[in-house]
Amino acid sequence: MTTTPVDLDIRIPTDNRAQALRADVRAGLTGSPKSLPPKWFYDAHGSDLFDAITELDEYYPTRTERQLIVEHADDIAALTGTATLIELGSGSSDKTRRLIDAMSTHRDDGSGLQHYAPLDVSPSALRGAVGRLRAEYPGLRVDGIVADFTGTLAPLPGPGPRTVAFLGGTIGNLEPTARKRFLTNVSAALEPGEHFLLGAGLVADETAMQRAYDDASGVTAAFNRNVLTVVNRELGADFDVDSYRHVAVWNADDEWIEMRLRATHDARVHIPGADLAVDVAADEEILTEISAKFRPDTLSAELAAVGLPVQQLWTDPADRFAIFLSSKRL
Ligand SMILES: C[S@@+](CC[C@H](N)C(=O)[O-])C[C@H]1O[C@@H](n2cnc3c(N)ncnc32)[C@H](O)[C@@H]1O
Repeated sequence: MTTTPVDLDIRIPTDNRAQALRADVRAGLTGSPKSLPPKWFYDAHGSDLFDAITELDEYYPTRTERQLIVEHADDIAALTGTATLIELGSGSSDKTRRLIDAMSTHRDDGSGLQHYAPLDVSPSALRGAVGRLRAEYPGLRVDGIVADFTGTLAPLPGPGPRTVAFLGGTIGNLEPTARKRFLTNVSAALEPGEHFLLGAGLVADETAMQRAYDDASGVTAAFNRNVLTVVNRELGADFDVDSYRHVAVWNADDEWIEMRLRATHDARVHIPGADLAVDVAADEEILTEISAKFRPDTLSAELAAVGLPVQQLWTDPADRFAIFLSSKRL
């Protein structure tokens, strides 16, 4: 069987990607505490590991959000009248199918969804998703965009009216200043009356939240360590990957989960591609991801403050996840 190669709109040239990784590694590993940004988890293997995480019993966010989407996709389609759906950090686009179905059929005159544009930093995840969706929805234009959603988002593809979706609780990976910048950029890219659909994890039972990021079978641990494999491969570093332990803790002050990698012994790590050598002490931790959990009122206020007042909010019965639908202020 032959498959058609999937073309992508690459907005991160390879040189810029290498430069960005170098800069992030230099800044993160010379800081205190040491840190690495979560976007570097997602090479092809990291994207596959994330998909495996979404299937775990402990990882309730994906199935909770999927259920909310199943229940409310028709309302979302009717409230937004979306012609173009742009999804940021789309990954496998798996949950998005239900939205695409509802948006494609919600108008009798056939003027529903015309264009789906998933945007992700991972070319491999996008290639898979775009290939599958083009096969499943032959009448829908599907364009994959390789880009960093923390940069400027405008101009967004059309035609309007457009909805920007940001699902999976990925908003929680942005620390508060970056989150404000991101939400401001989303707002600036939308026309008045267009929509932003946001899926966010809520502050929930501490044990359940912590287990979601530290599963018994070790998939999240492998995902966490994968960032070191990426740095080894792309910058020629010599991290002894297996000597780092996965740690997930709930930071009650900031209301976020922190994923860290704890060194089991002292090491000098050479990173020639970043022109850097760093000493890591036994028990020292590298912060690799925060996953903030929200309170509906606080996040609604943040959205309103950037011109994206919440029009509708749906939560699951256990109040562990929420979907916010905002309309750009007229
Ligand atoms: C937590 S996963 C969520 C995936 C999917 N939206 C879901 O709900 O299952 C985060 C996704 O965002 C992508 N991503 C992470 N940082 C990014 C960035 N700065 N710019 C673009 N995509 C990014 C990752 O490649 C990954 O597909």
